[in-house]
Amino acid sequence: MKVFDKNGHKIIWGEALEALATIKDNSVDLIFADPPYNIGKKFVDVPDRWESDGSYLNWCYKWLQLCIKKLKHTGSMYVMTATQNMPHFDLFLRDKLTILSRIVWYYDSSSVQARKYFGSLYEPILHCVKDENDYTFNANDILVEARTGAVRKLIDYRKPVPTVYNSKKVPGNVWHIPRVRYRMDEYENHPTQKPIALLERIIRASSNEDDLVVDPFSGSFTTSYVAKQLKRKSIGIEINEDYVKIGLRRLQIATEFNGEPLRRERKTYEPPVDENQATLSLFEKKAKWNTRSRKRSKVS
Ligand SMILES: C[S@@+](CC[C@H](N)C(=O)[O-])C[C@H]1O[C@@H](n2cnc3c(N)ncnc32)[C@H](O)[C@@H]1O
Repeated sequence: MKVFDKNGHKIIWGEALEALATIKDNSVDLIFADPPYNIGKKFVDVPDRWESDGSYLNWCYKWLQLCIKKLKHTGSMYVMTATQNMPHFDLFLRDKLTILSRIVWYYDSSSVQARKYFGSLYEPILHCVKDENDYTFNANDILVEARTGAVRKLIDYRKPVPTVYNSKKVPGNVWHIPRVRYRMDEYENHPTQKPIALLERIIRASSNEDDLVVDPFSGSFTTSYVAKQLKRKSIGIEINEDYVKIGLRRLQIATEFNGEPLRRERKTYEPPVDENQATLSLFEKKAKWNTRSRKRSKVS
């Protein structure tokens, strides 16, 4: 395990269970956990596929339990996993925390849609808090344009005094946020990078400036990156060296790693900075499926 620390932002290069154990109990304001989904995605060379659903869930229950221990009593946790695993997470967590919202993050397909079943176009997110009477929710910081009569400048005559419709509202639990695409500025070389807009809504809503935000499966470090932009503190944990390097660069914690300069890989349509700059692959490498697994999951 190796720790990099600069200006309130820490990257722990190591295994989530081990790294979480080093964080003080009851010290974290917000956790965003986006673990491997057990669907055979390839994180560099490691496919996320467990021997069985049971062994995947047992592993998840361990880190979920640890996350709860690290949260302050006013803390909030957002958890993601594949649609087929989420009911298990929900049952496990509802005994220990209050689940305030079951959020659906939906997006347009980035590739060919299924032809023989209804293809998956969403990922579930649980929004949980430790104390349902004492938690952070900055409603005014996440308001969105209301799609009601406000757009047409209608007046609500059902009110005692006729009033124009509100033009802003707190988003509901269905969030349409595009996935990160290759041509977007924020794109990093990670197969399941979450969008800045998704983390911005979560961090703005459920934390305040100087609060501590933790992500036990940081990947491309979107959580820590957004936490930094929003003046929160962060701890990001990641097991994979290539992704730790993305985090070190995105958070400006280091400019080189083992003597190698850390810079974003060049996109195919960009001119090279110099001949040593690596090129970002346009296509995600195909996952190697574990032949012992029973069936390839159709959903994510
Ligand atoms: C679904 S991705 C997270 C993506 C991330 N939210 C983002 O926006 O880029 C899960 C990440 O967990 C990492 N990972 C897998 N097993 C781990 C473990 N036991 N401890 C820490 N990180 C792990 C993988 O390398 C992968 O980057």
